[in-house]
Amino acid sequence: MRIVVVADPLPVLQPAHDSTVAIVEAAQERGHEVLVTTTRQLSVRDTRAHAACRQLTVVPATLAGGRWRAVADWWRVGAERDACLDDADAVLMRTDPPVDGDYLRATYLLDQVDRRVVMVNAPEGLRAANEKLFILRFPELVPDTVVTADIGEAVDTVRRWGRAVLKPTDGMAGRGILRLCPGDPNIRSILETATARGRSQVVVQRYLDEAGHHGDRRVIVLDGEPIGVVRRVAAPGEFRCNMAAGADVVADEVTPADKHVCSALAPELARLGLVLAGIDVIGDRLTEVNVTSPTGLREIDALSGTRLPHLVVEHLERAVAGRRP
Ligand SMILES: Nc1ncnc2c1ncn2[C@@H]1O[C@H](COP(=O)(O)OP(=O)(O)O)[C@@H](O)[C@H]1O
Ligand SMILES: [Mg+2]
Repeated sequence: MRIVVVADPLPVLQPAHDSTVAIVEAAQERGHEVLVTTTRQLSVRDTRAHAACRQLTVVPATLAGGRWRAVADWWRVGAERDACLDDADAVLMRTDPPVDGDYLRATYLLDQVDRRVVMVNAPEGLRAANEKLFILRFPELVPDTVVTADIGEAVDTVRRWGRAVLKPTDGMAGRGILRLCPGDPNIRSILETATARGRSQVVVQRYLDEAGHHGDRRVIVLDGEPIGVVRRVAAPGEFRCNMAAGADVVADEVTPADKHVCSALAPELARLGLVLAGIDVIGDRLTEVNVTSPTGLREIDALSGTRLPHLVVEHLERAVAGRRP
């Protein structure tokens, strides 16, 4: 297969952590050609989507003592060349949030890729599924959640619930996530800042105590099925369970409750072409559905002895075989 990966610039990737790099390694190991590009290098000519690409080869990270290690000089790229994306077998759109104007524009350009090319994830799905708001489509799975730009309403909600979490709708990696307590003299000021003084909606969600006790579980979902889980426990003095906020990672496994959540999500994920997702589950509640560049594959492989990136690439192989005339 020829796989085009739309990624953040290689120097900002973390080879020992990023799932994108892990998937590239698996593709390379399985004999596929990987071309890398960035959202800026996408274009449309004669109605077809193109990208200025470079062939990418990577030095695979190694697992030693439960930790991934990568060499500093972990990638090699070939000369830049123009590739029509219709000639690829699969296109992986894997840049990190925010889902801003540049990101959305990239998805519109990817709309021009021939439908026979396997897209992970599909551009229409990436636009449709806001990572913080997609959960609202599943009322039986979400914690109590209010989305509002109204500071008074947010304050009243926190008073009613006792404790809440505030989230911007376009963040990641714990950025902008704050705990709201009714007695905090800063509460209105926090909400003014987070809502740009009542102009932008934010998510106010009931604080789930399970997060403090058992952490936040990341479930990797491939084609609607849970394929691996890692539990993240917040660092001392921190409430956010994000790895980027120093959380500890603990081995975990797929439970019947995870399967139940995934079976509820699966039809909607399939309808939107969201092949690969990373869902966050706290207790039995669904708190986030990551579709842009979900991470966790490396950590799950290290803790559970799985080879999740290979499952992803095998899935691509089957999807591509199914679409060839
Ligand atoms: N409802 C909640 N109750 C308690 N903690 C939460 C809740 N929602 C999120 N958190 C905490 O905040 C962290 C980040 O929230 P999340 O919605 O996953 O956004 P992101 O990971 O994109 O920053 C979680 O890992 C968890 O520790
Ligand atoms: Mg999260």
